[in-house]
Amino acid sequence: ATTLATAAERTGRYFGVGVQGYKLTDQTYVGILNREFGVVTPENEMKLDATEPQQNRFNFAPADRIVDHALQQGKRVRGHTLLWHAGQPSWLAGLRGTALRAAMLNHVTQVTAYYRGKVYAWDVVNEAFADGTTGARRDSNFQRTGDDWIEAAFHAARAADPTAKLCYNDYNIENRAHAKTQAVYRMVRDFKARGVPIDCVGLQSHFTANHPVPADFATTLRDFADLGVDVQLTELDIEGSGAAQAENYRRAVTACLAVSRCTGITVWGVRDSDSWRASATPLLFDHSGAEKPAYTAVLDAL
Ligand code: XIL
Repeated sequence: ATTLATAAERTGRYFGVGVQGYKLTDQTYVGILNREFGVVTPENEMKLDATEPQQNRFNFAPADRIVDHALQQGKRVRGHTLLWHAGQPSWLAGLRGTALRAAMLNHVTQVTAYYRGKVYAWDVVNEAFADGTTGARRDSNFQRTGDDWIEAAFHAARAADPTAKLCYNDYNIENRAHAKTQAVYRMVRDFKARGVPIDCVGLQSHFTANHPVPADFATTLRDFADLGVDVQLTELDIEGSGAAQAENYRRAVTACLAVSRCTGITVWGVRDSDSWRASATPLLFDHSGAEKPAYTAVLDAL
């Protein structure tokens, strides 16, 4: 195969990319996007501050720009994200208790209903667990409405769009032994046991020198998958350069390929200069749009 998307497709998986709408006028960017990737995730345009800037007044125009481009190009869309502690509009900060819970569920319902048939999978909840060794939930306005806010969101999303896959997404859950990984694992196990509609777990997979691709990454993926969910690398990027970075990308891709329910990989941006952490040069194409050694390593691994 000659592209990331076609190589991944041969294994029954997708290869996707995080996209920023305002870059769709950049021909180099769009050329790589259209050629190499089969799934598109809006990096910011589906976050709460973008889609519901004022309460119950929705603005889907920035997200639609990306969704329309993707669908016209025959690509699928991952929705990111319905509920997150960050990226919130100011009106939300003034709500609490039952008013906040109702606004939260209304948001989930309205956005998933609007995109029904266009978004194949949603990150329903993003980053709801705390870092560190406690395995606790992250404190947030949503969390303060009660521990059941996550399952309530999944139920609302399923009711509004029964066709979309519903995912829980988080970072630093790539190491099986970490308390945060175990806490997410217990939540997913509990959801499956009680019939809460969850279909997938997204592992963001932002790797650095201090947080490298774990040697047992495939074990983490397999353990989640064995709970009866798909797993996906949803925001993959790896700090580094040259052969070392290429080898780390090879490891990450190989881990996914080792697990049949690891259904796809998304890298979090096109070129290094498009990255949210550009100084880490963490992506597959350099600032000029040229393929890096990491690109070749991924293509060869697929
Ligand atoms: C990042 C975007 O890439 C940036 O453009 C934005 O300024 C901040 O958010 N985890 C997530 C993503 O789930 O939504 C974040 O995306 C990166 C970390």
